[in-house]
Amino acid sequence: MGKQAKITVHPSFKIGNIAPRLFSTFLEPIGTMVNGTMYNPKHPTANGLGFRTDFIDGLKNTGMPAIRLPGGNFVSGWNWKDSIGPKDQRKVHLDPAWYQYITNKVGHDEYLQWAECVGTEPMYTLNLGTGTMQDAMDAVEYTNHKGGTWWSDLRRKNGHEKPYGVKTWYLGNEMDGPWQLGSWEKDPRGYGVRANEVSKIIKWIDPSIETAVCGSSAPFMEHFPEWDETVLEQCYESVDYLSVHHYHSAPPGDLKALLGGSLYYEDFINTEVALCDLIASKCRSPHKVMISFDEYGAMIRPNAELNPGYGPHNLYRVHYRFNPEREYILHDPDNMKHFRFPGGDMIQALSMASIQLAFLRHADRVKIGCMTGGLGALCASDHDHVWKSASYYVFTQLIRYARGTSMQVAVESDTYDIPGYAIDDTSQYPTKEGVPYIDAACAWSEDGSSLNLFIINRSEEDEYSICIDTSGFEGCSFVEHIELNSDDPEAKNSFEAPDTIVPKTVSGSSNAAVSQSEDPGKLNVTVKPLSWNLVRFSTKKTD
Ligand code: AHR
Repeated sequence: MGKQAKITVHPSFKIGNIAPRLFSTFLEPIGTMVNGTMYNPKHPTANGLGFRTDFIDGLKNTGMPAIRLPGGNFVSGWNWKDSIGPKDQRKVHLDPAWYQYITNKVGHDEYLQWAECVGTEPMYTLNLGTGTMQDAMDAVEYTNHKGGTWWSDLRRKNGHEKPYGVKTWYLGNEMDGPWQLGSWEKDPRGYGVRANEVSKIIKWIDPSIETAVCGSSAPFMEHFPEWDETVLEQCYESVDYLSVHHYHSAPPGDLKALLGGSLYYEDFINTEVALCDLIASKCRSPHKVMISFDEYGAMIRPNAELNPGYGPHNLYRVHYRFNPEREYILHDPDNMKHFRFPGGDMIQALSMASIQLAFLRHADRVKIGCMTGGLGALCASDHDHVWKSASYYVFTQLIRYARGTSMQVAVESDTYDIPGYAIDDTSQYPTKEGVPYIDAACAWSEDGSSLNLFIINRSEEDEYSICIDTSGFEGCSFVEHIELNSDDPEAKNSFEAPDTIVPKTVSGSSNAAVSQSEDPGKLNVTVKPLSWNLVRFSTKKTD
């Protein structure tokens, strides 16, 4: 007999509204993401702009709400003005952040037009590293002003009559990172003042926009959280979001640490929310700054020595640009190499999903979430083809069913501990006790007609029989249980074998995996080891 667990959800215990952009993605021109996957004029499906329509169509069907683009370290040295107008006159530049040539074949307009093709909302990152306040002002005028000024008329001349109407503007990328071009690591006050001024000016140009200021690029930065606090003190009233990033790392073979990563994310979110609220109190302000978690991921990387002092001295080591052997690369869209996450599709899907469930549990304050590699999760690709990986199913179920109100989920299950470990100087994990094997979050639709419960079984060995108690909901009845798992954790979907991992519907009380309990309002569901599960109920509509 498998292990037992219990989940209780009650209509009185609401967390907050789920923002439509919580399950979005992030795009930057590194590897083959832009040159090869998004843009390849020689691809048989390329459209007039050189974009691969197989990739566009794959993404269109997912309902991806928004994308932060372009973003990443490259943006802090990028002059958007060199990337507009006739392609043959655009300037080619070196990008010292990633040791690559930026050809600007995909420039400011193309990023935004690509988002139009996909039917998703672009969220734009301004260069606050080497870029000036004037560049930021001009970018907003070019992008969002209707016409009749130099910059807005130039946009019209460049083929886009209508303003793009970009709503969300990021005030730089990871401005605390010593690896960032034009880093503000040593001067959080200076950055906060600059962010405040830029935010004010661009909102004067377009009062409909909102802005996000950078917080720390990881909870393990030595200056966290003081850096963030100082920044917020300078600009609290003029910004709408605090932009934070984190990449969770676990050593090879340690799935417990990989899948328990969401607990470190929750600590990070709690501290950032507390900081925002501290500054609100200091300013006697009714304004609530929300969290934009606009880069996140989970990966497997080898261990290093545990450094009790979180020493910053080797921080530079983690960025390969300091390797003197490194040469500048030209990413040729026609000759792309395919990068994939090490480990099977199912492991990748679960490690990302666990972070996404953490965001859902903090939906009252985390309003934007952009998955790094999210485009590949929604539409896996190689040089020629596209297909669906396991992540596609998880991510699209969240986009579709994690809507309305996030509900508190009381989970009673066995737990495990993650002993402290170190990956490098910026990734030093304290011991985490009491990680539940069953990870869950829940959404109740706005009209009150459907309740969707998302469950991950983090155990590699044990099946869990979960008693789900929804007895507090009027007229609650079971609709379906969709499970995703793979007997082989190393298995991957591919173009040739796209159905290696696909969801299965487990429904009806005739199936042993789901049975109505003798108690009304309770359902027993069995979840397999290392599985993702969506359990759906209908509830009586609220008026
Ligand atoms: O996605 C890789 C990099 O991670 C991004 O360029 C940067 O913002 C972060 O450090």
